[in-house]
Amino acid sequence: MLPKRRRTRVGSPGGASASSAPAPTRFPGIAVYLVERRMGRSRRAFLTRLARSKGFRVLDACSSEVTHIVMEQTSGEEAVCWQERRAAAAPPGCTPAALLDISWFTESLAAGQPVPVECRHRLEELLEHGACEEVERVRRSERYQTMKLFTQIFGVGVRTADRWYQEGLRTLDDLREQPQRLTQQQKAGLQHHRDLSTPVLRPDVEALQQLVEAAVEQALPGAIVTLTGGFRRGKLQGHDVDFLITHPEEGQEVGLLPRAMRCLQDQGLVLYHQYQHSHYGDPAQHSHSMDAFERSFCIFRLPQPPGASVREAPKPCPTWKAVRVDLVVAPISQFPFALLGWTGSKLFQRELRRFSRKEKGLWLNSHGLFDPEQKTFFHVASEEDIFRHLGLEYLPPEQRNA
Ligand code: CTP
Ligand code: MN
Ligand code: MN
Repeated sequence: MLPKRRRTRVGSPGGASASSAPAPTRFPGIAVYLVERRMGRSRRAFLTRLARSKGFRVLDACSSEVTHIVMEQTSGEEAVCWQERRAAAAPPGCTPAALLDISWFTESLAAGQPVPVECRHRLEELLEHGACEEVERVRRSERYQTMKLFTQIFGVGVRTADRWYQEGLRTLDDLREQPQRLTQQQKAGLQHHRDLSTPVLRPDVEALQQLVEAAVEQALPGAIVTLTGGFRRGKLQGHDVDFLITHPEEGQEVGLLPRAMRCLQDQGLVLYHQYQHSHYGDPAQHSHSMDAFERSFCIFRLPQPPGASVREAPKPCPTWKAVRVDLVVAPISQFPFALLGWTGSKLFQRELRRFSRKEKGLWLNSHGLFDPEQKTFFHVASEEDIFRHLGLEYLPPEQRNA
């Protein structure tokens, strides 16, 4: 925008000298229209008188004769609006008027004749460089909001969310209209989106634990179910409920998860589940943070006690609620490592593993603690043993909420 000093120079001395009787037009090819908005009525009237006294043709209305539209302190939005207006106003076949910043006008007044229009005078130019920052900010925040919305859908990671965004999808309904793009997991995630984006609470956790324990006991008597994840760390709410399953006798756990799942399904408790075999031998998996345990990513249909208000003011009260549940199976020899890993938090685990590698030269993951020099694994019976091997004081789960 025009420096204040410049404006004053143009504005003040002319005030008295600008005559109300227009001088004859000296520049016939040019007709100026001054946009009043932001410029203000009195400043516009003053500039009009001054310009006319110098032989410029200034029109009171924005007709099709106007060749130069001049605006002051324009926002991107206003400029876009005028751009459309002048294009519409131009007679067919004629060049639409130039959209110019006030700097072109004041420079012309100072020069006593219209100065050549340069790029820096053109608002279109401004739109692309200056005012467009505004547009950029809006665009960035739209991307952020969309990514947040999409990545919280069960089965949608950052890459998928980003691809959908690039393709112009923005809302859950946009996705629902494109079922052919969705995996079964994502369809289930969308279908139960409302429940799944409601936090899981403690009473849900206890009810689920009883259901899972009963099914596991039926599938394999003596098997043990342990609550892990955020709820083991004492959190009062979470996005899902995580359970780790094992059996005191090594090898007994094999085959128990499909049987337990079937038992849960027979009771109508499973809305969706994705079973994954263990893949201990697959070295490609070990480079990732993902472990190789047998698991099931589920959506449970959790019955609600009558009168429980789960959603906001629903009538009548829902009789069930969809809840995300992760079931993971570990052989007893790896159980302490699996428990440590699945208790999280993600950040705490990342830091613990980094500490182990950098400070102790030992590789820690959810399967074990490995000494790469001795080429040996540590045998442990508890989480406490792992902390001891790392030379650390034991941290109870509640203190792992990093
Ligand atoms: N985890 C893992 N491998 C996965 C998923 C999770 O090892 N494929 C571990 C992570 O270390 C994580 C823990 O399991 O800390 C629990 O994961 P998650 O349920 O995603 O997070 P919570 O900490 O339980 O938080 P939330 O309340 O959001 O569920
Ligand atoms: Mn969890
Ligand atoms: Mn989980």
